[in-house]
Amino acid sequence: MDTIKIGVAGLGRLGLIHAHNIAGMKGVELTAVSNLDNTVNQQTKEKYDISYTYTAYEDMIQNEELDAVCIVTPSGFHPDHIYKALRKNLHVFCEKPIGLDINEVRNMIPVIEQSNKVFHLGFMRRYDADYMYAKDMIDRGDIGEISIIRSYGLDPIEGLDSFVKYAAKNTSGGIFSDMSIHDIDIIRWYTGSEIKQVWAMGNNKAAPSLSELNEVDIGTATMKLENGAIAFVAAGRTANHGYHVETEVIGTEGMLRIAATPDKNKVTVFDNNGVIRPTSQNFAERFRESYVKEIEEFVRCIRNNDKPEVNAWDGLRSTEVAAACQTSLEEERLVEIQYER
Ligand SMILES: NC(=O)c1ccc[n+]([C@@H]2O[C@H](COP(=O)([O-])OP(=O)(O)OC[C@H]3O[C@@H](n4cnc5c(N)ncnc54)[C@H](O)[C@@H]3O)[C@@H](O)[C@H]2O)c1
Repeated sequence: MDTIKIGVAGLGRLGLIHAHNIAGMKGVELTAVSNLDNTVNQQTKEKYDISYTYTAYEDMIQNEELDAVCIVTPSGFHPDHIYKALRKNLHVFCEKPIGLDINEVRNMIPVIEQSNKVFHLGFMRRYDADYMYAKDMIDRGDIGEISIIRSYGLDPIEGLDSFVKYAAKNTSGGIFSDMSIHDIDIIRWYTGSEIKQVWAMGNNKAAPSLSELNEVDIGTATMKLENGAIAFVAAGRTANHGYHVETEVIGTEGMLRIAATPDKNKVTVFDNNGVIRPTSQNFAERFRESYVKEIEEFVRCIRNNDKPEVNAWDGLRSTEVAAACQTSLEEERLVEIQYER
């Protein structure tokens, strides 16, 4: 296969980043984009010299030149968009989650597995150098057996107002499916074990209006894993200092912490405000390189007929846990997760 031709669906916050990365990659061509807002399509076409633009996703996947699609549309569309792309024999990179409805996600597993096309789910933390370094340490046994994992994902508070407006018109799937799903994936990846019990709580101190929309601005869950380990996740939309992602792993022979402070870089400022470490301001900045690496891995898998490490089962299991957290939050009870194996 010579140049791999990719179409990006959805040119929003993250879609524009994927489009930019794909356009700059060797051996790959950003051949088409589809997005509801045609102005953004035209701007993107001009910026990257793209051959085709579409407002309808369904029209883009009819393009016979395409080898693959990168789906970055709102999460509720993902199952339909994945299904249609695989039916057109296209390789699929899809942003997390596979979908918002568990049964829909479950039904996608045989569709994806029987397609013989590459399917890669966008859990970008797995391609972050620090998370990978920690994973190697854990796999080598450097910190012994994992007892506890604590993992946070906090969005900057400056995005809260726009989230409130967004939540009023759409469904994000709830804070666990939208945000904690990354922490859930890391817990499963690091421990190699499934989560069997969750107890979730949340509140709306910063945005009380979210209560009417069945959303919370802070969500937490305590979890028990099948191997006996314990996990605690917290997701929020209220970080005043920037974009805060942090994970701590306590093992029987040591502990490690990834990004204890969400540093922007290695600069420390000493001035009349004290000692200051500049902070990452958004996901695009914090995970800039991971978004490139995950698409490179997707392309490598297409070329070598390989299977990506992050697959449909990771998508299903993480969604099952996120949904259990949502149930626990709404029904104020411990939820046992029953997996169909
Ligand atoms: N991995 C991460 O770090 C991360 C970060 C942000 C978002 N995401 C995921 O990426 C996806 C998109 O999120 P976002 O924040 O970029 O959303 P967004 O609302 O900013 O953008 C969505 C875009 O999709 C377009 N769109 C909607 N329906 C479409 C359709 N049928 N066909 C073509 N385009 C369509 C809209 O015009 C919009 O431009 C979500 O699934 C989200 O969960 C992942």
